[in-house]
Amino acid sequence: MSKTVLLAGGAGYIGSHTAIELLNKDFDVVIADCHYNSSPIVYERLEEITGQKIKHYDIDVADMQAMRQVFEENKIEAVIDFAGYKAVGESVQKPLMYYENNLNTTFSLLHLMKEYNVANIIFSSSATVYGMENQSPLVESMRLGPCTNPYGWTKLMNEQILMDEAKSNTNLSVVLLRYFNPIGAHASGRIGEDPKGIPNNLMPYIAQVASGKLQQLSVFGDDYDTHDGTGVRDYIHVVDLAKAHVLAVDYAAGRKGSDVFNIGTGVGYSVLDMVKAFEKVNSLTIPYKIAPRRAGDIATCYADSTKAKELLGWEAEKNLEDMCRDTWNWQKGNPEGYR
Ligand code: UFG
Repeated sequence: MSKTVLLAGGAGYIGSHTAIELLNKDFDVVIADCHYNSSPIVYERLEEITGQKIKHYDIDVADMQAMRQVFEENKIEAVIDFAGYKAVGESVQKPLMYYENNLNTTFSLLHLMKEYNVANIIFSSSATVYGMENQSPLVESMRLGPCTNPYGWTKLMNEQILMDEAKSNTNLSVVLLRYFNPIGAHASGRIGEDPKGIPNNLMPYIAQVASGKLQQLSVFGDDYDTHDGTGVRDYIHVVDLAKAHVLAVDYAAGRKGSDVFNIGTGVGYSVLDMVKAFEKVNSLTIPYKIAPRRAGDIATCYADSTKAKELLGWEAEKNLEDMCRDTWNWQKGNPEGYR
């Protein structure tokens, strides 16, 4: 019998791509999502891509009473916790909202997992937990924090909560995945990243400049200590990232305690590298101007992903060309996202 994985916050960008990869590997999938930052149209698209019915509950993961129904009605083997607010700037404006939601979703899941004897949880963490002081390549064993914003702190706090819980509850198996910069979209062009309002992140911003929705890109700083002065990041194709979750579910099963993995390619590209690659791959021009640095940004951030390779058997398979092509394919076909 297939194992059932609960994707908490699974209708979002990373959750929806993970749902496909799990279904490809014969897992059953149940999604719980209140659509604060996702669209229910995702389910139709997932059904179109996979040919399977997507079981979903349109409820808030932080609402433990409502979530009880999900655990009652499904025999869940593993939970993947994608449920959380993720806008760095907004978290500075509304810290209480971020701490409350991003911690309560985890509390709700951990309580219900204990009640229903669910042993395995995979958590969406972020490279942001490394703070500003570590030098790349970032290694899992490095000292963490301090974070530069409440969003980052919620990731670090959730990591700590999950690790502590795994120490005390000896049935629990926790896998923390520290994502670097996910971009790209499913090759079908039917699901992808659908930011609310003006995008905060580089790739969706470039895509909207390409489509004419936005006039020009502002490159935040060209005086960093990098090969061309612009910020360097480890961009990872969302489908590669999704596959890491499938491997993490397998890894968590049959283990106890907690473990943590960087999920990045190990290669850093600058903002201008990304602009040039996007232009070349898609044969178009991205107008840009150099703007001041953005508060809280660091010069360089990329992963050492050796541990994921050795223990999860995971490695990024897609390259920069795939990332640029698939981003544009999604943007072109869905200029208003899921609307
Ligand atoms: N950038 C621009 N112009 C833009 C947007 C971004 O020049 O309009 C630059 C940034 O300054 C940075 C790079 O592009 O150098 C990447 O910026 P993103 O906003 O796309 O990504 P960040 O690396 O800042 O943040 C991402 C995630 C966070 C996560 C962090 C962890 O969005 O959730 O990685 O490292 F916390």
